[in-house]
Amino acid sequence: MAKLSISLTVNGAPVAAQVEPRKLLIHFLRDDLGLTGPHIGCETSHCGACTVDLDGKSVKSCTMFAAQVDGATILTIEGMAGAGGALHALQEGFRQMHGLQCGFCTPGMIMRAYRLLQENRNPTEAQIRFGISGNLCRCTGYQNVVKAIQYAAATLNHVEYREAAE
Ligand code: FES
Ligand code: FES
Repeated sequence: MAKLSISLTVNGAPVAAQVEPRKLLIHFLRDDLGLTGPHIGCETSHCGACTVDLDGKSVKSCTMFAAQVDGATILTIEGMAGAGGALHALQEGFRQMHGLQCGFCTPGMIMRAYRLLQENRNPTEAQIRFGISGNLCRCTGYQNVVKAIQYAAATLNHVEYREAAE
């Protein structure tokens, strides 16, 4: 099958590649670029484990072809830590608030939360729950995921995180 040339930016670095027209973005990221943070949970756009940030939007990368991202800018979980490996506030939030158990959903959950906080710096609990409603977690019951995102929002807003009484 004839391949298509694409060039894009992934986690701040330029990437040029040849891809088959049928190759899904999630397979390009994992198999061609070695970025195995985005996970494959369903390949049918249900679970959100494959979520990445693409040109300022959350995208389930199993729903797109790699050929569609020519010229795009993509951020994956691998690009979230800062210089020297300093954790992003969301990564720290998930760590501090026990926002993961098996961790399978976590890269997609964090990338979705990243865009949520870009769009709304101070979301309510209801807005967080709605914002991550496309990302499924089999383990946590979501309570600590919500707390992790609230923790990150507080950190990014330079205020102390205060856990709401349950
Ligand atoms: S693997 Fe993409 S939504 Fe489940
Ligand atoms: S932590 Fe296991 S699926 Fe979310």
